Amino acid sequence: FGDRLLAGRRVLVSAGPTYEDIDPVRFIGNRSSGRMGFAVAAAAHEAGADVTLVAGPVSLPTPVGVRRIDVRSAREMHEAVLANAATTDIYVGAAAVGDYRPEAPASDKLKKHDGQPLHLELTENPDIIGALAVLPSHPFLVGFAAETQSIADYAKDKLRRKGLDMIAANDVSAGRGFEVAENALHIYWADGDAVLPNMPKTELARQLVAHIADRYRTKRT
Ligand code: PMT
Repeated sequence: FGDRLLAGRRVLVSAGPTYEDIDPVRFIGNRSSGRMGFAVAAAAHEAGADVTLVAGPVSLPTPVGVRRIDVRSAREMHEAVLANAATTDIYVGAAAVGDYRPEAPASDKLKKHDGQPLHLELTENPDIIGALAVLPSHPFLVGFAAETQSIADYAKDKLRRKGLDMIAANDVSAGRGFEVAENALHIYWADGDAVLPNMPKTELARQLVAHIADRYRTKRT
């Protein structure tokens, strides 16, 4: 990977899950391990980019040469990503951002109430990549779409609706995508697409980065 496709470019990657606190000991999270996003950050660094990685709560080592910012909740991730937007050329949103958070996390541990159901009021989290898309001068935007059905339709809809330059769709049904070491992607941009078959996330990320570099270059010329 000696061609340094992204030399001099500043790449911001989000990875991992977010944790939305319910009380001091409980949260709502998801199964993202951070592997996909960390692999993208490593591949972008290999390609010569200056890489910042905004990581949700994961237990992965920081890729060599990558600057890492740890966050916990979607709101913290939103703040960290927006704070770096002005110095980013390419944003890759590989994080599985929690769409909702408890409206009012309890300050003390919740207690059980004699078999009564517990009601949690959830409120929508900010759309991080959506917030970047409405900035007057925004980075090249690459989203992911984690879907279990109608993958192509939902992915192309997210590409258009969120105003993205590219979207990487993955089938996360039946134990695929999340947590595991391998993945497959179908990437879409406005006038094209490419299939990246199942392979280790490390290699998949290199191929994705090569496509991103190619589309980024095309857009700028
Ligand atoms: O971490 P791993 O275990 O390796 O698993 C990898 C993965 C399956 C998590 C990854 O490949 C993936 O698909 N990440 C995106 C998961 C997701 O939340 O997709 P989505 O379809 O809900 O969101 C679409 C896009 O909007 C994503 O780029 C997401 O980062 C972004 N988003 C979503 C919600 C939100 N509030 N803000 C966002 O920016």
